[in-house]
Amino acid sequence: MQRIVIIGATSAIAHATARLWATRGAALFLVGRNAERLAVNAADLRVRGAEKVTAHVMDATDYATHAAMLAAALAALGGIDVALIAHGTLPDQRACEADLVMLRAEIEANGVSVCVLAQAFGNYFVAQGRGTVAVIGSVAGDRGRQSNYVYGAAKGLVARYLEGLRNRLAKSGVGVLLIKPGFVDTPMTAAFEKKGLLWAQPEAVAGGILDAIERGRDVVYLPWFWRGIMWVIRHIPERLFKRLSL
Ligand SMILES: NC(=O)c1ccc[n+]([C@@H]2O[C@H](COP(=O)([O-])OP(=O)(O)OC[C@H]3O[C@@H](n4cnc5c(N)ncnc54)[C@H](OP(=O)(O)O)[C@@H]3O)[C@@H](O)[C@H]2O)c1
Repeated sequence: MQRIVIIGATSAIAHATARLWATRGAALFLVGRNAERLAVNAADLRVRGAEKVTAHVMDATDYATHAAMLAAALAALGGIDVALIAHGTLPDQRACEADLVMLRAEIEANGVSVCVLAQAFGNYFVAQGRGTVAVIGSVAGDRGRQSNYVYGAAKGLVARYLEGLRNRLAKSGVGVLLIKPGFVDTPMTAAFEKKGLLWAQPEAVAGGILDAIERGRDVVYLPWFWRGIMWVIRHIPERLFKRLSL
């Protein structure tokens, strides 16, 4: 039986992934800041076959509560095999440029808090001798663009942090997976017009996340074709890129 902690368990992508784990009889520890939605998700996962589901209320940016969350997860599960860090927000880029308090809060939510939690689980997994830290980043972290560089910079921070963490933990038998989805049809992207081949459903991304964890991958683009798209975007010379309205 796999023992899984999910941070941001009310996320659509996280819940779709939790459903796949539930059908395999996993024990799940759900962490989120909305108690009612956590309870609804927990009930759904029990019906789908989860061995055990525990809900824990925590705001990921409330750093002082991280240690208590980890202790509660260990008390509930007896050990942890996978930590999926999924929480995130899609900042209003223009508003952040003007409101620097908001700017900082968005970088905390999407960047700093993710790195701190990844480090906390990494430390635990080293002591345990195994485990996987899986983190949902974004293709947006691959290159800064004028339309969303607050979000992109936070996701870029996560990518670089995980690179270093993976490098440090490789010899300890601990996996560090960065998941980079493209456009996914979830509440986060409610304001977008979701038409075209580039849009994926959370269920498809969830399948890719499980597969990447099982294969011990380091970095995965979901769906796969985003690897090629981002390769092209990363390789546009800066001289040209800075003139594009992206
Ligand atoms: N949708 C996309 O197109 C897309 C693309 C690339 C990457 N991603 C990433 O995928 C992940 C999941 O997003 P999603 O698409 O599934 O969107 P979502 O359904 O809107 O989920 C985001 C979740 O993050 C939670 N959250 C935000 N701030 C939090 C905090 N401080 N503490 C705890 N939980 C917090 C939210 O909880 P509340 O319910 O309490 O607000 C919400 O459940 C995010 O990291 C996102 O950046 C999404």
